[in-house]
Amino acid sequence: MASSSRNSSSSCSSSSSSSKRVAPMSTTMLVLVMAQVLVLIVGLSHGQGLVPGVMIFGDSVVDAGNNNNLDTFVKANFPPYGRDFSNHYPTGRFCNGKLATDFTVENLGLSTYPPAYLSQDAQGKNLLNGANFASAASGYLDRTANLYRAISLSQQLQFYKEYQSKVVGIAGRAKAAALISGAIYILSAGSSDYVQNYYINPLLRGTYTSDQFGDLLLQSFNSFAENLYNLGARRIGVTSLPPMGCLPAAITLFGAGRNDCIVYLNNDAITFNKKLNAVSEALKKRHSDLKLVVFDIYNPLLDLIKNPQNSGFFEARKACCGTGTIETSLLCNVRSPGTCSNATGYVFWDSVHPTEAANKVLSDTILLQGIDLIS
Ligand SMILES: *[C@@H]1O[C@H](CO)[C@@H](O)[C@H](O)[C@H]1NC(C)=O
Repeated sequence: MASSSRNSSSSCSSSSSSSKRVAPMSTTMLVLVMAQVLVLIVGLSHGQGLVPGVMIFGDSVVDAGNNNNLDTFVKANFPPYGRDFSNHYPTGRFCNGKLATDFTVENLGLSTYPPAYLSQDAQGKNLLNGANFASAASGYLDRTANLYRAISLSQQLQFYKEYQSKVVGIAGRAKAAALISGAIYILSAGSSDYVQNYYINPLLRGTYTSDQFGDLLLQSFNSFAENLYNLGARRIGVTSLPPMGCLPAAITLFGAGRNDCIVYLNNDAITFNKKLNAVSEALKKRHSDLKLVVFDIYNPLLDLIKNPQNSGFFEARKACCGTGTIETSLLCNVRSPGTCSNATGYVFWDSVHPTEAANKVLSDTILLQGIDLIS
C-alpha cells in the first residue's frame, strides 16, 4: 500500500485513489469471466475437452498421489489432507482439496483428472486423458529428488515414454499421436531444489551462488523441454517459482525470528523467473511449432499474501494445518494440534502448500495466461 505511485496513468478513470484500486481489479475479473465463458462455449461446442489431455510433471504442487507408492516420507495420503476433496478422501495431494491443476483440467473440459501414473487407476481408458507423473520433493535436479527418494524428472520422462507406448497399445497409433501432440504439458519445479536442497545444504551453497544454482536448474529445464518436444509435445506450460520467502515454513526456518517474507529468497525467485522466461523464449525461437507459456504464479500468490482480504482471505502467514508455521507432510496429521476447522480463509493449507481456495485463484490466472496454449 505504501507504493502510492503505482500507475497513475491508468487508462480512463479519473477517480479517487480508493476506487482506482478497484477499477483495474474489476477489469481483470471481467476478462477472467469472459475467458471462462469463451472456454466453456468452445468446449461445449466440441462436446469434449478443449485439448485431448493433460500431462503433468514436477513436484508436490501438482503431485496427485504418485508418492503414495514410494518408499519416501514425503507423502500426503492421510487426513487431514484431502478433507475437502470429493468424498473427503486423502489422495496424496498436498492440499485440503483440489490442486490448481485440478481446476485447470476442469476448465479445459476434461471429464476426469489425469491419474497418478503409479496408481491403480492408471490403466486402460483412464490413460487417454493424460497422466500425472509428478512426485512431491522432486525438482529440476535429479539429486533433489534422490535426497527424498522421490521420482526424479529424468525418471518422470522415462515413465512418460512408457506411457506413450501403453497409449499406442490401448488406442492405436493415430489416436496416440493426436493425444501426444494436442495435450497440454504442465511442469511445476524448482521450489524443492531451493527450499529442500540448496538453502539447507552448506556444501551446495559453498559451491554455487544462488544465481549459479538457478542456472543449473535452468539447464535441466531446457533439456527437459527439448526432450518433451522430441517426444512430440507441442504445448508446454511451466510454472514460475512462487515467492519462496513467503512460504510459512520458509519464514519459520530462515526468517531469524521475524514474521515477514524473506527478501533474499523472494529475490532469488525473481531472478530465476526472469531467466526462466528468457530460456523459454529461446526454446520457442528454436521451435516455431512449440507453444510454451511460463505461468507467473509469483505475482498472483504474492498478491494473495500481501492483500489477502482483497480476495476474501484473512490469514496468509499461518497455514491451516497444525500451528501453521512448520507442518507439512508427516508433520501435518490428525494429531497436529491447532488445525483450523475451515480452510477457506487461509492462503496456505500446510506450511508449504496453498489451500484449495488459493489454488482456485491461482488456476484462474493460469487460465488467463494459458490462452495461447489452447488457441
Ligand atoms: C467455510 O467457510 C466458508 C465461508 O465462510 C463457507 O462458505 C463454507 O461452507 C465453510 N465450510 C465448511 C466446511 O464449514
